[in-house]
Amino acid sequence: MEALQTLDLTKHYRSGSFTKKNIPALEKVSLSIEQGEIFGLLGPNGAGKTTFVKLILSIVHPTSGSATVLGYPLGQRKLKEYCGYLPENHRYPAFLSAENTLIFFGRLNGLPESTLKEKAHALLETVGLKDWAKVKTKKFSKGMLQRLGLAQALINNPKILFLDEPTDGVDPVGRKEIRDLLLSLKAQGTTIFLNSHLLSEVEMICDRVAILNKGNVVRTGTISELTTQKLAYHIHLSSPLTKEVRERLDQTILPIEYHETSLVVTLHEKPQLNLIIDILRSGGIGIEDMTQQKTSLEDYFIQIMKGENG
Ligand SMILES: Nc1ncnc2c1ncn2[C@@H]1O[C@H](COP(=O)(O)OP(=O)(O)OP(=O)(O)O)[C@@H](O)[C@H]1O
Ligand SMILES: [Mg+2]
Repeated sequence: MEALQTLDLTKHYRSGSFTKKNIPALEKVSLSIEQGEIFGLLGPNGAGKTTFVKLILSIVHPTSGSATVLGYPLGQRKLKEYCGYLPENHRYPAFLSAENTLIFFGRLNGLPESTLKEKAHALLETVGLKDWAKVKTKKFSKGMLQRLGLAQALINNPKILFLDEPTDGVDPVGRKEIRDLLLSLKAQGTTIFLNSHLLSEVEMICDRVAILNKGNVVRTGTISELTTQKLAYHIHLSSPLTKEVRERLDQTILPIEYHETSLVVTLHEKPQLNLIIDILRSGGIGIEDMTQQKTSLEDYFIQIMKGENG
């Protein structure tokens, strides 16, 4: 059974009390997320990422389409027990301490009163706020509030965790700690769904991603499917190219990027790799190492967005 499955999920907001302007936020989004994976939903501002999460958690309701979470249709009360949610731009009562914030959310989740305090402290330790338990949240920095938000999302030991920009405002060390925490939750079997603009982070922890643009899914795939440039190879050489070998390589009319003792060649078809290797070796140039070239997720994302938006 999938952790999350959506079929043609669509949301149009109605805005303005008189005009009732139609704002299409999501168009027929069909996604499938396996249990235990970390899935990233990417997209520019206003693409519909937060709307997607709000639909899944029944904070807003779909215009059309359907979805199931752990096999339950949206809106089932039982589902709330299984989900954890870190909202975008969350606000907690400023007069509550970190400890009391978590106790409050624990009560809302129906946790037994006797376990609340212990649970709150364990989670504060997990997110690196152990020494801040008694401090009121109005004194918290943005990154500290984000850590508290993460602790709040974990209060009910969710099977599936929805995180909207989890590392927003968190410093680099804190971001690494959050990544490690998410990986350890994954190792325990938790499914994690996150929205993020920090593509280098997404690349480090997500198993699969989908890219949204103007409410439409334009790409889905594993990180390596999206970032491996299929036919570009980086070839490391044992010595610099000679003039003669360089000329022979140029004659292939393949796009080749030359470096001191390496080159990057983009092929039209795989057998052309043998031709390059033959030219190098017959010219007395040894091959030290050869790797398939990768783009960063960020470069890929920018490339896709340029294509999508002309
Ligand atoms: N409550 C609402 N009423 C009307 N329109 C809305 C509402 N919430 C969102 N929208 C619109 O829906 C679209 C998608 O918004 P959404 O917040 O889902 O985007 P997002 O991908 O999360 O953006 P960001 O990266 O900035 O967080 C936008 O055009 C937005 O203006
Ligand atoms: Mg958002």
